[in-house]
Amino acid sequence: MYRSHTCGELNSSKIGNEVTLSGWVQKIRNKGFMVWVDLRDRYGITQLIFDEERSSEDLMKKAATLGREFVIQVKGDVIERESKNPNIATGEIEVLVKELAILNASLTPPFTIEEETDGGEDLRMKYRYLDIRRNPVKNKLIFRHKVGMQVRNYLSNQGFIEVETPYLIKSTPEGARDFVVPSRMNEGQFYALPQSPQTFKQLLMVGGMDKYFQIVKCFRDEDLRADRQPEFTQIDCEMAFVEQEDILNIFEGLTRHLLKEINNITIDAFPRMTYDEAMRKYGNDKPDIRFGMEFAELDDIAKNKGFNVFDQQELVVGIAVPGAASYTRKQIDALISWVKRPQIGANGLVWAKYNDDGSLKSSVDKFYTEENLKEWAQATGAKPGDLILVMAGDANKTRSQLSALRMHLGNELGLRKPDEFAPLWVIDFPLLEWDEETERYHAMHHPFTSPKAEDIPLLATDPGKVRANAYDLVLNGNEIGGGSIRIHDKETQSKMFSHLGFTEEEAKEQFGFLMNAFQYGAPPHGGIAFGFDRLTAILGGQETIRDFIAFPKNNAGRDVMIDAPSKLDESQLKELSLKLNIE
Ligand code: AMO
Repeated sequence: MYRSHTCGELNSSKIGNEVTLSGWVQKIRNKGFMVWVDLRDRYGITQLIFDEERSSEDLMKKAATLGREFVIQVKGDVIERESKNPNIATGEIEVLVKELAILNASLTPPFTIEEETDGGEDLRMKYRYLDIRRNPVKNKLIFRHKVGMQVRNYLSNQGFIEVETPYLIKSTPEGARDFVVPSRMNEGQFYALPQSPQTFKQLLMVGGMDKYFQIVKCFRDEDLRADRQPEFTQIDCEMAFVEQEDILNIFEGLTRHLLKEINNITIDAFPRMTYDEAMRKYGNDKPDIRFGMEFAELDDIAKNKGFNVFDQQELVVGIAVPGAASYTRKQIDALISWVKRPQIGANGLVWAKYNDDGSLKSSVDKFYTEENLKEWAQATGAKPGDLILVMAGDANKTRSQLSALRMHLGNELGLRKPDEFAPLWVIDFPLLEWDEETERYHAMHHPFTSPKAEDIPLLATDPGKVRANAYDLVLNGNEIGGGSIRIHDKETQSKMFSHLGFTEEEAKEQFGFLMNAFQYGAPPHGGIAFGFDRLTAILGGQETIRDFIAFPKNNAGRDVMIDAPSKLDESQLKELSLKLNIE
């Protein structure tokens, strides 16, 4: 028996008991006549003591050979500790060791394996298995497990069945590039790893599964960010015989259940906002509504006052920053440089201070009277003590620049509180999105999304105006889920493909299987997929998903621990009938 107890469970009620523990040596204090060892496992830390007066010479010698991260097994008696540590569960006791077995020695770890570590990101990733021994990482993985269990409980109770779908498939275009896998048995042919199980879950609806879910890996070859990994996990769901309202209700229920069970937070009905409203008010389709700073369009009051920087522009738009009228020149200049960075790309920023005494002062006093500025204050909702910031330019670009500034200020002013949760449904997304590069329309969600019935006539005249039965669930400024009511008849689906620029042959070749299935009694259906890593990170009060993934990839898409991706042997390439075109 390796252990009678874990390292986290002994307390004063066990004093006098003989116990066996196994774990890792976290810390050693060797005074010669006495040796203390902190023994760690997943459950906690127990202090061990070797004492010259009470332990044999051999045991003392053996204890002196221990090093950090050695794996050991000890047998001993639980005794009361002299200097107690109220901060840990086992802080009242220690184990006086009678027998010690070294199960495995360890090299000196490259960074300290404690709550706070001296290891940098790269080093910790290279030795991720050591990082996982640390509480902050370990606890996030345990947290993820809890979220997953709650998701499975809720959905099973609602009658959803978890079905696995294949990983070796044919590509489903969902915006990103596919990861591909060469097929040895089918020379010159490739599988693609799924960007999502989208078509399969729809086929499960044709198959009569009615309510499906899957916690599933998805693969997308796209540029990486803090909230994106090349392989990530979705809570993928689909239901038959539903309308948008049914989906929103069920999955609002799931989110509410998680907030209650995981965060002990009760939230009433989630607010809803159309895509257009989100873009106008926040310049963003995933607004963080934990704080205000809503956009105010100032065209009517700020144009034609002689300030021609504004006059020429499509949109003049501003926000009121609470309590920021006291910003110094230096602080404001820093904001101006921030928006001018190439990542944001703004031309500049006009400011107006609404001082505590009610007076107004701006960077464009030459053109605007205090009366004019009062109108700005009214429009942006600024109060005395606030700072008004205004940008102008092309409408879409300016909105997204001001949105970035709003989020930046939200962070700076501490308005994005990690323990506050503000979910939001964004609905009525456009069906299509114009792509400058390819000069054609792309499906904004995916090609299987249905247009709103009343907008179908617009497909012929003004495709960009057609709204979709598509929705996103936003939590604290992050898109945690997205879905739609699907097209379920062959005719509409093939029309959709032709709007997206597919020839009939292309559509048939890529999606013939789906359109065929639609001819055999496909029920009306719809669904949603949550980003499980993102959802977990946000419920855990963070926005970086990497720490919630046991073995994540770095920003270059590499696993630095196993050193992947890597080259293939010549013989492997040959077997796969592949020839590389590089040196
Ligand atoms: P979508 O592409 O919106 O929809 O993806 C659903 C959710 O998955 C998460 N997500 C990611 N998380 C981490 N890393 C990534 N690279 C990444 N990409 C997406 C997001 C997103 O909201 N098949 C449709 C769903 C449907 O229509 O039912 C789909 O995949 O949180």
